[in-house]
Amino acid sequence: MNGRNTLTIIDNRTGKQYEIPIENHTIRAMDLRQIKVRDDDFGMMTYDPAFMNTASCKSGISFIDGDKGILRYRGYPIEQLAEKSTYLETAYLLIHGELPTKQQYDAWTNKIMTHTLIHENIKKFIDGFHYDAHPMGMVISAVAALSTFYTDAKNIMDPESRKLQIYRLVGKMPTLAAFAFRHSVGRPYVYPDNELSYAGNFLSMLFKMTELKYKVNSVLERALDLLFILHADHEQNCSTNAMRSVGSSHVDPYSATAAAAAALYGPLHGGANEAVLLMLDEIASKNNIPAFVKGVKEGRGRLMGFGHRVYKNYDPRAKVIKKLAEEVFEVTGRNPKLDIALELERIALEDEYFIKRKLYPNVDFYSGLIYQAMGFPVDMFPVLFAIARTSGWVAQWEEMLLDPEQKIARPRQVYLGSDSRDYVMMGKRSESKKNKP
Ligand code: CMC
Repeated sequence: MNGRNTLTIIDNRTGKQYEIPIENHTIRAMDLRQIKVRDDDFGMMTYDPAFMNTASCKSGISFIDGDKGILRYRGYPIEQLAEKSTYLETAYLLIHGELPTKQQYDAWTNKIMTHTLIHENIKKFIDGFHYDAHPMGMVISAVAALSTFYTDAKNIMDPESRKLQIYRLVGKMPTLAAFAFRHSVGRPYVYPDNELSYAGNFLSMLFKMTELKYKVNSVLERALDLLFILHADHEQNCSTNAMRSVGSSHVDPYSATAAAAAALYGPLHGGANEAVLLMLDEIASKNNIPAFVKGVKEGRGRLMGFGHRVYKNYDPRAKVIKKLAEEVFEVTGRNPKLDIALELERIALEDEYFIKRKLYPNVDFYSGLIYQAMGFPVDMFPVLFAIARTSGWVAQWEEMLLDPEQKIARPRQVYLGSDSRDYVMMGKRSESKKNKP
């Protein structure tokens, strides 16, 4: 160390030397713009497809050390929150930055639980979906539609308005999710019961039949709440990036949440636990695991629920979920796919291919097994993820809005297309390889 916290760059094209300040182990990409061959050059940019090595923001919400397998929310280890907290307390922590006092917790819970009802017209949208519509598609559309009911939500710079939209979003997501589920199974909608806990009320809206009061199983209620805690936030993942990016246009938070939920829908993100179960179904028996793993290594598909952009170690959430699975199966009966999953994990963790690439089970490897044992159909899995992640999305959205360094997100590109050329009339065009339909 020479005491100077700078990065020296020598441009071999010009022989010029630049001192680029280093702050928080990063350099500012804009500091590279001064590197030019000629005065009228645009200046140097970085090329980083998929943001592999680019920090798009400063954040104080969640922290991951991927090599060590650490996840913390506002500094608190995920294992401690999983053991001691509730989802609503964790949501408060993510959004407000500190754990609530008893009074703050009660007031927050009360606010969330009194914003669980949705406008009757929302039911009409949901009714309009085809019987086999994917519930995630319904939830994405319904949450976007909320912006048309709460037009005050566009006042994003008003702290009171933001607070209200946050209560509404965290409160109403389970209701939208449950209504989408009830629609897909052809059952009447169940209105929220605010005497129940957040997770208990959700279970009631999903599974209540003709009984006057739904009896919540406390093990399953706690399991669901814990799964919500584990999924609440995760740094700048694909959906959170969508929330921030879309929110940076200053659109209302319902529209931004719909964009985030759409990002979450993909099989490489929130859809992965559904893909894990399909994979376990395909494998069908422990005997078929070696052949399946061989196929993955030969490039025929991926081992779903394995690997992570950030974790190069066991995902700490997967550890908690693996333990939780046993508790849930004591109530629901053992999911027979668990044995296949355990054996698959054992074989993969001993295999050179996975060791070399640091591929470990991620949060989705075991969560789907639990959800399925609890009676959720597979297409509800990403919806459950979306409910939990809503608190993280809104915390990140608000942090982005209040960050004076943030502006509308607008990446640059490296243009490699045609140079300027003259328009050709249709009759004079010849078919090129490029424009074949
Ligand atoms: N099975 C087999 N090979 C894999 C897997 C996998 N699940 N994941 C990565 N690889 C290989 C990949 O083929 C590549 O090998 P090579 O260097 O020989 O080309 C290497 O590992 C690096 O992979 P990558 O695609 O460059 O890694 P990434 O950071 O872009 O992808 C990932 C991360 C999560 C998309 C990927 O690991 C994956 O597709 N996993 C399966 C889907 C999954 O479980 N997703 C849930 C993610 S956790 C939930 C969340 O936080 O959203």
